[in-house]
Amino acid sequence: MRQLFRNAQVVLPDGIARTSVLIEGGRIASIDAPASTRADEVIDCAGLHLIPGVIDDQVHFREPGLTHKEDLHTASRACAKGGVTSFLEMPNTKPNTITRERLAEKLAIAAGKSLVNYGFYIGATPSNVAELAAASRTPGIKIFIGSSTGDLLVDEQEALERIFAETTLPICAHCEDEATVRANTERLAGGKSYADHSRIRDHAAAIISTRRAVDLALRHKHRFHVLHVSTAQEAEFLATLPQGLITSEVCPHHLTFNIDDYERLGSLVQMNPSIKTAADNAALWKALANGTIQVVATDHAPHTLEEKAQPYPASPSGLPAVENSLALMLDAVNRGVLTLERVVQAMCDAPARVWDMVGKGRIAEGYEADLVLVDMNLRRTIRNAEQETKCRWSPWDGVTLHGWPVATWVGGRPVFRNGVLDDAARGTEIRYDHSLGGYWATR
Ligand code: DOR
Repeated sequence: MRQLFRNAQVVLPDGIARTSVLIEGGRIASIDAPASTRADEVIDCAGLHLIPGVIDDQVHFREPGLTHKEDLHTASRACAKGGVTSFLEMPNTKPNTITRERLAEKLAIAAGKSLVNYGFYIGATPSNVAELAAASRTPGIKIFIGSSTGDLLVDEQEALERIFAETTLPICAHCEDEATVRANTERLAGGKSYADHSRIRDHAAAIISTRRAVDLALRHKHRFHVLHVSTAQEAEFLATLPQGLITSEVCPHHLTFNIDDYERLGSLVQMNPSIKTAADNAALWKALANGTIQVVATDHAPHTLEEKAQPYPASPSGLPAVENSLALMLDAVNRGVLTLERVVQAMCDAPARVWDMVGKGRIAEGYEADLVLVDMNLRRTIRNAEQETKCRWSPWDGVTLHGWPVATWVGGRPVFRNGVLDDAARGTEIRYDHSLGGYWATR
């Protein structure tokens, strides 16, 4: 099967060009094929941009064990609609993904029901370092250095030292300092309002923990990815680090929401790390634009509206985002905050390189045909009722965005087109070559 994408503005690794892309057998066969090239299908992309599929390296898709919130099928439909062609899922499911056996189970579930490509982290506990050291078929190790949803937490220094010393897979972590969070919780008598969430999980909790984790990584010369940076202080700190071992990421909600939004949105914007201030939003946009922060990912963490309606602190932390993250960033392009090239670097190319993915993240010959057509002129309003995520809500409900994905291909197969999802499509297991050396080693 040969497909020819014609007349698109194609976002290539070295810039945007109006050219053609030829796909053969699910891979990109050539760029700028001669006009006489024959194909089984010609896709006219006039007026649209063709970009590599988004790779979301931080999602919580809740299967197994928490499937009343989301499952790998519903979540993957949301991905396909949002232009996300590959995801890396977190280990705080039920049971936790903390052994190779659990990892294999999740991979098998995804093979049966995910419309897009999939990968799963292995979670660290204070005592599973042997499993972490022996694991394969995974992008890397996730550590909760600071508790969040679920019971995965590694806070003791000795256990953290062992994980960084005795494993070789890249590590990422949720960084919020447990002692700071506990002291704040006590001072505020557990918290009485949703807004107290940002007083409990405050700026200090974030920067103390991020510094601690980066210190571990640098001393052990271990590759380390800082998940969901939420403060200006962390961005300032990351800007001082040498290139080589450390990468970081930011989520759309930490860019677009701040503590002023609690009044309107309540627990819908309660997540970990908490949202901070408008000044933090501005610093994070800047750090993303100038490359201090390399990756944009969502931390998609669905909970039902009933669960969210509980008073604080019973209300769970987390929000769904995979089907709107690309549009939120395209809107930022139309507002002049970022370039489209920068968005593609942060959402497609950088996550592929951070996690040593084989054949992903770029429109280049030989790469997999995970592709998204975007219409930079389309204006559309996010509506809860139209969300594919099982929890059927979005914190951006009612927000009109300028710039949307309109069609998605996974391995050359259209999974979302003309507003229709192809439920019969299946993604494939993401492959990693950890000898590639990560983001800083590859260009
Ligand atoms: O708000 C959050 N929710 N942050 C996390 O780190 C976990 C997530 C979840 O799984 O609900």
